[in-house]
Amino acid sequence: MTRQMIIGMHLGNGYGNLPGAWRASAVDSKSYTSFDVKVRHAQAAERGKLQFLFLPDGPTHIGDIANEPPHFNLDVMVTLAAVARETKRIGLVATGSTTFNEPFNLARQFKALDVLSHGRTGWNAVTSSGEDVAANYGTRLPSTSDRYGRAHEAVHLIQALWGSWGQEAWVLDKVTGWFANAEKVTPINMGGKFVASRGPLYIPPSEQGQPVIFHAGGSPNALEFAGRYANGVIGAAFTIEDARAQRAAFRAAAERAGRNPDEIKFFAGLMTTIASDRRAGLDRRIALSERIFPQRVPYLGQMLGLSLDTARLDEPLSAEQLARAKPSLRDPRSAHALKIAREEWTLRDVLAHGVIDYHPVVVGPAAEAADHMQEWFEAGAVDGFWVSPDIYEDGIDAFVDGVVPILQERGLFHRNYEGTTLRDHLGAPAQYGIDPRVPR
Ligand SMILES: Cc1cc2nc3c(=O)[nH]c(=O)nc-3n(C[C@H](O)[C@H](O)[C@H](O)COP(=O)(O)O)c2cc1C
Repeated sequence: MTRQMIIGMHLGNGYGNLPGAWRASAVDSKSYTSFDVKVRHAQAAERGKLQFLFLPDGPTHIGDIANEPPHFNLDVMVTLAAVARETKRIGLVATGSTTFNEPFNLARQFKALDVLSHGRTGWNAVTSSGEDVAANYGTRLPSTSDRYGRAHEAVHLIQALWGSWGQEAWVLDKVTGWFANAEKVTPINMGGKFVASRGPLYIPPSEQGQPVIFHAGGSPNALEFAGRYANGVIGAAFTIEDARAQRAAFRAAAERAGRNPDEIKFFAGLMTTIASDRRAGLDRRIALSERIFPQRVPYLGQMLGLSLDTARLDEPLSAEQLARAKPSLRDPRSAHALKIAREEWTLRDVLAHGVIDYHPVVVGPAAEAADHMQEWFEAGAVDGFWVSPDIYEDGIDAFVDGVVPILQERGLFHRNYEGTTLRDHLGAPAQYGIDPRVPR
């Protein structure tokens, strides 16, 4: 069978990636606290046969709460427990910090969710990188080497805990009263420089054995960490060349760890505003993000090597400015921003294209999003995408009803789930307990 892409859906604060998404007329402004809303969004993604939901998390809020909602879920595990009960096939990937959690807590919560979801759980293992997160735990952020030292130990320990209830341990003989084989539920007695646990973890295997590991990031530490343990990488890349290089680096890291490079899948971020045409999409974005445009104008100027005037948001760049403009080498988004500016959009429209957003943004008809995904996929830059719609309430439906059928028509995306577990959806190999190939 030809290679097909894997698609995940970002499930964040309940509103969407536009800062003003909570104000959109179709949106329940209390979606942040509504689990019914989260369930509905998850069901929409499942209707499109998407392989997983991705819930980022950085347990902190340092934004402008007067004007913008928090970025993350109330609690990723509680959200996914609610979603697991109301969905059947879609994978459920939640972020959990190895720095600010005890491994035993992570092991227990993620395996319990894996059992609850019948083998659909993934753990996006991150080390947390902000002092503001550390402050919520009354501490300072450890050094990078300590963060990753602890992360390596934590994953080993957690996987050992996951395997500590042996696969054949359950006896469940009501007649003799034999519940479980005590010899197969055993302590792990593991400890290192940072973390330790006796075990066992008293949770039987799920349908996929144990949760699948993801990682989000792209630093050299991320490479080595993901190379050893991850089956999925939540990535960020602005060009095909960059994504291809990152994907190749993660694959090489997996090989260095003694694994098959196909075991690690690289997903680039993609933000979508699906609309009947570009103008309608830009207007939708302007209505919900215009407030931040004035503060972004000076930065756009830096990206283009120009001094830009906030008062002239409704004018395109002059011919003289375009002749002088040079994309900044410091920001990989600059060349694309200049390309859009050369199409003679006003400054407001240039910003509405999302040229300063965290991931590439497609604004326009569904076919344009499908074209973007096809081009990156066929260039060997990605194994798939994690998609972040502008407004979840109608943006997930627009993706599922507009983009997915085009990808299916082109043979680039499956028409149904091939299996029942997240491991099945990712083509990840079976694993129970630690991976014996990976050095401790
Ligand atoms: C696309 C993407 C998504 C990320 N998601 C999260 C997240 O949900 N939670 C988190 O704490 N860190 C997240 N990170 C941060 C990384 O895990 C990592 O800490 C960061 O890139 C800094 O690298 P370092 O930890 O090696 O210093 C994300 C990074 C990227 C590129």
